[in-house]
Amino acid sequence: MKFFLDTANVAEIKKINTLGLVDGVTTNPTIISKEGRDFEEVIKEICSTIDGPVSAEVTGLTADEMIKEARVIAKWADNVVVKIPMTEEGLRAVHVLSHEGIKTNVTLIFTVAQGLMAMKAGATYISPFVGRLEDIGTDAYELIANLRNIIDFYGFDTEIIAASIRNLPHVETVAKLGAHIATIPGNLFPKLWGHPLTDQGIETFLKDWEAFNK
Ligand code: G3P
Repeated sequence: MKFFLDTANVAEIKKINTLGLVDGVTTNPTIISKEGRDFEEVIKEICSTIDGPVSAEVTGLTADEMIKEARVIAKWADNVVVKIPMTEEGLRAVHVLSHEGIKTNVTLIFTVAQGLMAMKAGATYISPFVGRLEDIGTDAYELIANLRNIIDFYGFDTEIIAASIRNLPHVETVAKLGAHIATIPGNLFPKLWGHPLTDQGIETFLKDWEAFNK
């Protein structure tokens, strides 16, 4: 199970990366725009900070536009992955890019059929959106489990990045269901190791130790 950070905040990435638990980073236009920085500059900085795949998304809507953007983005760093939206044009782009050896992350996956199409087009990663499916009352976990079964059954090389992760149960459940990766917002990451009973336990142990040593 790999953990990616779903953020473009370099300070946040650097801080969490000192734990040695970050396997990659994902961004999207919303995440990049929050930083108020130049797209290319921030992606290059993240790529040099993290020893793993870093997703940077295209904004063109036609296959030709996406391919053109992807070829430029792919030159920014060896570990960059081009994020492509799950559309008919996106699938055309992924088909071409995969033959050029450009790694892709097909994003905004909400159904098994979409995931399967992306795998067949040659996507390196697919990103099903857990939180957004829950928002509309749809079982995101069934989607993750089904996608993993399909990958294993047919032997696709594609890896699942469980995205739109918003809470601890999301992380724990997608791990149990076989998502290869969970991409986690920076503010959620510390919740993975924290528990109030751990803090209370430490406090009690230290108090007892002090009392014993008085
Ligand atoms: O990884 C995709 C993510 O950035 C979207 O999350 O919470 O906006 O649905 P959210």
